[in-house]
Parts: sequence; structure tokens; C-alpha cells
Amino acid sequence: MHKILANTIYLGKDIHFLPECHSTNEEAYARYKTGKLREGSIIITDKQTKGRGQRGNQWFSEPGMNLTFSLILTPVFMDASEQFGLNMAVSLGIKDALSDYVSGIMVKWPNDIVHRDKGKLGGILIENSVSSQGIELSVVGVGLNINQLDFPFPNATSIAHLAGAKVDKEEIFKVVISRIEKYYLLLKRGKEKTIKNLYQYHLFRFGEMCTYNDGEDFTGQIVGISEQGNLIIEKINQTLHHYSFKQVKFV
Ligand code: BTN
Repeated sequence: MHKILANTIYLGKDIHFLPECHSTNEEAYARYKTGKLREGSIIITDKQTKGRGQRGNQWFSEPGMNLTFSLILTPVFMDASEQFGLNMAVSLGIKDALSDYVSGIMVKWPNDIVHRDKGKLGGILIENSVSSQGIELSVVGVGLNINQLDFPFPNATSIAHLAGAKVDKEEIFKVVISRIEKYYLLLKRGKEKTIKNLYQYHLFRFGEMCTYNDGEDFTGQIVGISEQGNLIIEKINQTLHHYSFKQVKFV
């Protein structure tokens, strides 16, 4: 499994498989800092003992069943204020790849991959190191539920669950990396607008009247993503509100 990927131009040409580690994000960061990894390198594991999720949560994944990896990017061409562009590009790459296997896959703001009505399939944890020069390092952590069938929490699903059969996770891994590369190259070519339009097009709940909570429950519809990556919701009284990650919850 852990050879050089043949279907990419420069991502995944240096893949390090660890049978077990605390967190591939931590491992990738530490190894990059000591000069052992370069752009496109990947740390992948079968078992994380302290997998990290968004909002300081833990990421649980049944050992050997799913994909848990971190990819090193050095998008110095991006300004720190453009960080969300990377989230959108990576989300779209994953959405595209998984759509080869099952239908109904969508991106959910800010960093989730979901099935239209069956719940969460995966998440992305991007940790950036920024300077006045731009984004110097981006550790792109990806956790995708592939062959796991039982989940200890509600609202989670996997490709095998949706497809009704186990799938080849190594093959999916290759497709995911090549599609992330495709969207990353678009970003590199300055096509942020295209990325944003596609992200909004595939965005879970875009343009649907639903319930959210920003301290209290309210009804509104997602109408866009701001330059800073904030979620723009039009409330039922037609006022526009911009929310950062921790300011709004999907109910
Ligand atoms: C989320 O909370 O939805 C984001 C989950 C990200 C999990 C992945 S698994 C590989 C990488 N290493 C980590 O510790 N976290 C990310």
C-alpha cells in the first residue's frame, strides 16, 4: 500500500506508513520541522491513539478500517487571510473522490464530508503555520470512515455502510490524493473563485430553510461563504449574519 503514488504529479510521492501513532497531524508536523518531510509527503496510520478533531474534540476511528492520514503542503503563495481556500480545495477533492463510490456526498461547512441524509463520513483538520510571507506550512489531516460499520455515536456513516459492501480503502486513498492535488493545483493557478463556487454548489444545506443556533435557535438559509471563510446565513427576517466556526451550530 505505502508506495509512491503513480497517479499524481507531486502529492504522495513520499508516503510513511505507521502501524500506530498518537496523531498523524502531530507526527507530520514534528517530522517536517526536523527536515524529514517535504511538500506532498504523507503520514498514514492504521491506528491513532490520540486522533485530534475540530473544536478540540478527539477523532475516533476503528483501527484498520478507515483512512487516517496527514498531508504536508507549503502553500506560501497563499496569504494567511486566504486560509479557508485550502479547506475548500481539500473538501472538494475528497467529495469528488468519494462520489466515484457512492452518490449523495456533500461538503459541510467548515470541514466536514457528509452524506446528504445519512450523516458524517469524515472530517478535515488543517493546521497552518503562517508568517508575513504567507502560509508556510499546512498539515492537512484527513479522517474518512471507509469500512467501519458500527459507530459509538449517532449521525456517522461510512462508504461501506452506504455502498452495502466493503471497499478497497487503498484504492480510495489513491483517488482522494489525486483529487486533492487537482483542486490544490487550481488554487495554485489563482482559481479561488472557481473553488468557492464549486464549494457552495456542493455545500450541505445551501439555500435550504433550516434551524441553526447562535445562542438561540433560529430559522434561516445558508447564502454563501465570506472572503474570510465565514458562513453567511440569511435569517427568516431577511437579515444577513456572518458566523465564524464556533459561533453557529447546525441543529
Ligand atoms: C473533525 O473533527 O471532523 C476533523 C477530524 C480530523 C481527523 C484526522 S485523522 C488524521 C489526522 N490526524 C489527527 O489527529 N486528526 C486528523
